[in-house]
Amino acid sequence: MSNDRNLEVKREVPGEYGAPILGAVLDRLDRFYGKNFFEKRRDEYGSTVFRVNMPPGPPFFPDSKVIALLDQKSFPVLFDLTQHHDRWIPELRAAAAAGYAEWDAERNKPKKSGGLLGGIVSGLFPDDPLELNPVLGKIALRFLTKTVLDKDATEGNALTETGIKLWTAPQIAPVLNAGLPAVIQEPLLHTAPIPFIIVAPEYQKIVRFFKANGERAVSLAVPHGIDPDEALHNLIFFICFNTFGGLTILWPALFKHVSDFNEFDLQAKLREEVRRAVGGGGLDAAALGGMPLLQSTVYEVMRIEPPVQSQYGRAKVDFVLETHVEAFKIKAGEMLYGYQPLVTRDPVVFEEPEKFKPRRFMGEEGQRLLEHVFWSNGPETGSPSVDNKQCPGKNFVVLVTRILFADFFLHYDSFKLGDVSISGTSSVYPCTELKKRA
Ligand code: HEM
Repeated sequence: MSNDRNLEVKREVPGEYGAPILGAVLDRLDRFYGKNFFEKRRDEYGSTVFRVNMPPGPPFFPDSKVIALLDQKSFPVLFDLTQHHDRWIPELRAAAAAGYAEWDAERNKPKKSGGLLGGIVSGLFPDDPLELNPVLGKIALRFLTKTVLDKDATEGNALTETGIKLWTAPQIAPVLNAGLPAVIQEPLLHTAPIPFIIVAPEYQKIVRFFKANGERAVSLAVPHGIDPDEALHNLIFFICFNTFGGLTILWPALFKHVSDFNEFDLQAKLREEVRRAVGGGGLDAAALGGMPLLQSTVYEVMRIEPPVQSQYGRAKVDFVLETHVEAFKIKAGEMLYGYQPLVTRDPVVFEEPEKFKPRRFMGEEGQRLLEHVFWSNGPETGSPSVDNKQCPGKNFVVLVTRILFADFFLHYDSFKLGDVSISGTSSVYPCTELKKRA
């Protein structure tokens, strides 16, 4: 990457916040309805670090002033907790770690994984062209609740994708672009928090399901000193929000990129690789290990389209922040904001960064690049721990995505998706062609 010498501070962080309230409102409108919000500021200031307001902003969300970080040299400061505050409660981490350790120990054995994971896809994709998201959402919900609660929430529609989104979407609505006209979207979604009471009935439905089926999972948190009720709500949060929410963004993106790719017959290569690795056996850990193209394809989607685009951290101390080419003084109390989709398209690190290259992470050179993939709020080569804020579901997410895609090519030969459109809080991916395994 770039040099290791200390760069000299030659100027202030460029950019400005504008007049009180008005500056934040103008930036918000530009963010949601303008084009190339970050790129045009980067080009104007000649810098990958600059000041700007991030939505939603005042009057109900007063803290809009951030310093944006858009390159691979400055962004990792967000992983350094000596420089900025951790904004997550420690109990949440402990609960997540407890849940994940249980999954790891009991479920991830090669012997069991064939039985558990085979059939994740079969029977769920109807033969006719359809919209992809509801199917992938149902797979995610079924898989997660069967894995963690031993109960399939999709049976009898005990829980539905729409129901879960009715609870999760209002929480992120103030920073979401639902594709509505500004006159509707601004007052409705971006001005004030949506009161919980509106979604309380949906949330209570989720609580009832988890209470009835989550006793075993909740009991794992108790030895860590976590109150069972608190554990229950944390469990709901990281199953329905972190995991279900994350996977239902990541999986359609994976299918879309593979569908659109036309430099070589990627789908033929993937299905050959998957079927060769599985041979006459099952889809187990050993078989997954023999699918380097599939693994690289998953990483490439996470690089080009990280499911969580924004990362924040408030500076705890004064320090000097470096980009590839210059340095800036940051003061304690200032809010840092990393916009990941540009960071993981940094041309200093990635060749042809705007291009989806499914083989990018194959081989020795490809493996080395993994330290620059940050979707989990840390390098892909790093490990989540109680001393950092990296996603504790990191390895699980990559594993289960590889399994989903491998299982897909065990049951289907190929697929094609049409143009993506936005409907409410979801992107709609019409599936125009789906060929069952010959
Ligand atoms: C595609 C799926 C997922 C994505 C994209 C994702 C992404 C992320 C990101 C970006 C963060 C850092 C947030 C921040 O501080 O800025 C994070 C943290 C976290 N994630 Fe995930 N995650 C996913 C799945 C999961 C799963 C499966 C779990 C359950 C174990 C989980 C539990 C958590 C928890 C508890 C944190 C807070 C960690 C801490 O602050 O120490 N996530 N995740």
